[in-house]
Amino acid sequence: MQIVRDKKELREAVAALRASGTVALVPTMGALHAGHMALVREARRHAAHVVTSIFVNPTQFGPNEDLDRYPRKEAEDAALLEAEGCALIWAPNVAAMYPQGFATTISVKGVTDGLCGPLRPGHFDGVATVVAKLLNQVGPDIALFGEKDYQQLAVIRRMVADLDLPVEIIGVPTQREADGLALSSRNAYLSQEQRHAARTLPRALGEAAQAILDGLAVEQALAAARALLAGGGFDPIDYVELRDAETLAPLSRLDRPARLLGAAWIGGTRLIDNLALHPPA
Ligand code: PAF
Repeated sequence: MQIVRDKKELREAVAALRASGTVALVPTMGALHAGHMALVREARRHAAHVVTSIFVNPTQFGPNEDLDRYPRKEAEDAALLEAEGCALIWAPNVAAMYPQGFATTISVKGVTDGLCGPLRPGHFDGVATVVAKLLNQVGPDIALFGEKDYQQLAVIRRMVADLDLPVEIIGVPTQREADGLALSSRNAYLSQEQRHAARTLPRALGEAAQAILDGLAVEQALAAARALLAGGGFDPIDYVELRDAETLAPLSRLDRPARLLGAAWIGGTRLIDNLALHPPA
């Protein structure tokens, strides 16, 4: 497995891989966990070669967010990726990604209107721009993203469709701990007590989803989920909402494929999660 930091070297290495088969890209910010490994495994099912990018993208962090303390573990990440059969790590530095004079931003409208969009101004512009760059740099046949960051996945799908980018985007289901907590690099910030309390997030979403399927009014089910989160120590609760699974438009009734999404803070850590919800047949 190669670790490449230079764009010209990347082009040559990917061309060499491409000569013997298709290429998948798994974009990451490192601090890899079993959720990322599921992406790499899924990538290997679809393509001959897997390229994983590791880049902690400064432009998707707000001024008061956790860019400085975001975990960086390249040596451990490389060992995990090698064991999983990844062919190449693309690990540019900030200057290579954003050279002097860089002045272009991709902004995806609509799917960014609610949820994390207004709460994290500039975040999805940063994500869309860096993902477009990663796709152009690597030129993969497919790229894989976790469904845990469901709004991010919607943004990337929209951008790829709108800009006719020649890549297939594959969403991979969220990987969870035994108690239901979605795997996330940010779980590393949680104290033992906070980690214990964090399981309330998947529980609240699961109970609200079941209540909606059982016929409870959506607004009541969402209010119950918020109350459960507040009782479990989450503060503030950024949102618990039911949205159209594709456009992310708000839903007050389960009348089409939907997603129940939540974001809330435990201590200084913001956790997000979501579940798929389909109208009963
Ligand atoms: O999900 C992530 O890890 C990041 O947002 C991504 C897609 C690698 C872009 O920096």
